[in-house]
Amino acid sequence: MDINTLIPKETDFTIPKGREREFEILSNSILSGENILLRGEPGCGKSAYVLHLAAKHKVPVIQIQGDGDMGVVDIVGGFQYSSLKNGTYWIDGALSFALRNGCWVLFDEINMTLPEVLARLHSVLDHRRHLDLKETGESIIRSSGTAFIGTMNPDDFGVHSGTKPLSPALFSRFDIIMDFDYLSGNEEVKLLMKTSDISLKDAQTMVSIAEKSREARKNLEMSLSIDTRMLIAWSKKAVQYGLKDSARAVLVSRFSDADKAALRGILVGFGLIDLVKKGSQK
Ligand SMILES: Nc1ncnc2c1ncn2[C@@H]1O[C@H](COP(=O)(O)OP(=O)(O)O)[C@@H](O)[C@H]1O
Ligand SMILES: [Mg+2]
Repeated sequence: MDINTLIPKETDFTIPKGREREFEILSNSILSGENILLRGEPGCGKSAYVLHLAAKHKVPVIQIQGDGDMGVVDIVGGFQYSSLKNGTYWIDGALSFALRNGCWVLFDEINMTLPEVLARLHSVLDHRRHLDLKETGESIIRSSGTAFIGTMNPDDFGVHSGTKPLSPALFSRFDIIMDFDYLSGNEEVKLLMKTSDISLKDAQTMVSIAEKSREARKNLEMSLSIDTRMLIAWSKKAVQYGLKDSARAVLVSRFSDADKAALRGILVGFGLIDLVKKGSQK
């Protein structure tokens, strides 16, 4: 595999106003190959920032999606049988591959991962900086520039099913922990206008709707809110099909029936009526 294909494509990233110094510390920490934990709501730019930095510095990145189904074999590797090779042979997992090839590791939703998988990270993250493949007896050294970035959603509302706090042993191995948040309303409006030809007025309406949905989620009135990624998708379609028709396909359809009732209340406030039918919640 050509490692260069793992270098992300260049993308813009808006540093939130007033947080320039924090982002300077963050980027220096990543570029020094430290362990970083990024915490924040889904779709608020955690991965986007890491990929932006990797693209700028032309560093390959391996993204690992943490979830309850991921086993040790997926990240460390395992033996596979091949009739061609007439026996079993070792295949690296995502983490072994990344460390062997000097890729940054972007471990998303690290707190969704099973403890036995996370336990294998300990020696990679602390002063030992190596991954022991007990299975083969090999030890893969983590080179000095290899950053490890974990991301997690804050578990403050208890609405992210499957999330739990990280174990203190793992938590203490991160050099820096940074909280991410959505951009301010103005910044998000500008971002939408940069990524599509949306008008100022429509961008402002969309961002206001998103902000209301985030508030509703905080108040446990909705289980999902409109994040930056959804806003970008919506604005691209809105340019083509108008705010309302695009909302049906891009936005409303993502929400559960229970959430649609709350969403309806928000949309009606912006004159976007009939998008979610009353009563049927469809
Ligand atoms: N500050 C930002 N600057 C530019 N784009 C952003 C920013 N925050 C979010 N985005 C956009 O929103 C999308 C979702 O963000 P992402 O980083 O994937 O979220 P998460 O926090 O869940 O990792 C990104 O692909 C990017 O296009
Ligand atoms: Mg992410």
